[in-house]
Amino acid sequence: MKKKNIVLIGFMGSGKTTAGIRLSYRIRKPIEDTDKLIERKEKCTIREIFDNKGEEYFRKLETEVLQEAVSKYKNYIISVGGGTPVRQENRELLKQLGTVVYLRVKPETVYERLKKDTSRPLLQCEDPLEKIRQMLKARKEAYEACADIIVDVDELSLQEVVTKVQQELEGNRKAKSMKLLVINGPNLNFLGIREKSVYGTQDYNYLLKLIQDKAKETGCEIETYQSNHEGAIIDRIQEAYFDGTQGIVINPGAYTHYSYAIRDALASITVPKVEVHISNIQEREEFRKISVTAPVCDKQIFGQGLDGYLQAIDFIRNFS
Ligand code: S3P
Repeated sequence: MKKKNIVLIGFMGSGKTTAGIRLSYRIRKPIEDTDKLIERKEKCTIREIFDNKGEEYFRKLETEVLQEAVSKYKNYIISVGGGTPVRQENRELLKQLGTVVYLRVKPETVYERLKKDTSRPLLQCEDPLEKIRQMLKARKEAYEACADIIVDVDELSLQEVVTKVQQELEGNRKAKSMKLLVINGPNLNFLGIREKSVYGTQDYNYLLKLIQDKAKETGCEIETYQSNHEGAIIDRIQEAYFDGTQGIVINPGAYTHYSYAIRDALASITVPKVEVHISNIQEREEFRKISVTAPVCDKQIFGQGLDGYLQAIDFIRNFS
């Protein structure tokens, strides 16, 4: 059974400790930090552990402390050392511990924040920025693999980070089991092949990956469907009426401009619906300016590239 802790992960300097403390005030949950637990256990600093006993010894302690935390803490905020998610067994423990929030940060931000800090043994080297870049690259997948929620922190103030974490936790709870459907109409399977100057160079599989990453980040179940056939799209919309779909994102392709049949199918389903267009349909041919499907949707997003799909998913998640 999953404990109700909030677990903050992220690279050194991502703000786990500071954001954790602030979050702890706001949501009135106690906070613990695995590095501090290690320091108390060993009665010396992390830097001294690295210097005297080496990194391997530290990594063993990290896993031990995490195992203890799983049986000990409930309803806490727990921030963990930047390297904790690297070990597969730690990732499993983190997930058991609670909802994992990844504070994602860019190398340059880390460098600016930590350039005068000597408490991080791994960054005491000739070229810390390069080291940060390499470590972040090597750890990217590990962080993302165990994250339930990802917050990009570079452009945000501390207050904003905490607010965003709070909102995402709330949204995650509300939308955890949300079942969404993303439908792509004709020629969208030709992304990356067709009119690259209009639709970009990324292919359809890239879009599917973006959507699945979003599903992971938000905890939603997102099914994707693509067809070049009007009737097949209508069948899939009708199926959504019966299969528990709670929101539809649809890019009807050129059918947008004349398919009253797709419009009628959409109108018969009352879940939130967002129409998406990759290009700016208002700045292209006259016939593209008209959408017969948008009036039966709750929102239309265009000209945002592939990000429009992700914005549409967020719109549905926050729709009430
Ligand atoms: C480390 C990050 C540090 C600390 C140790 C190793 C890492 O924690 O655990 O220096 O491997 O990234 P913070 O992320 O809290 O600085």
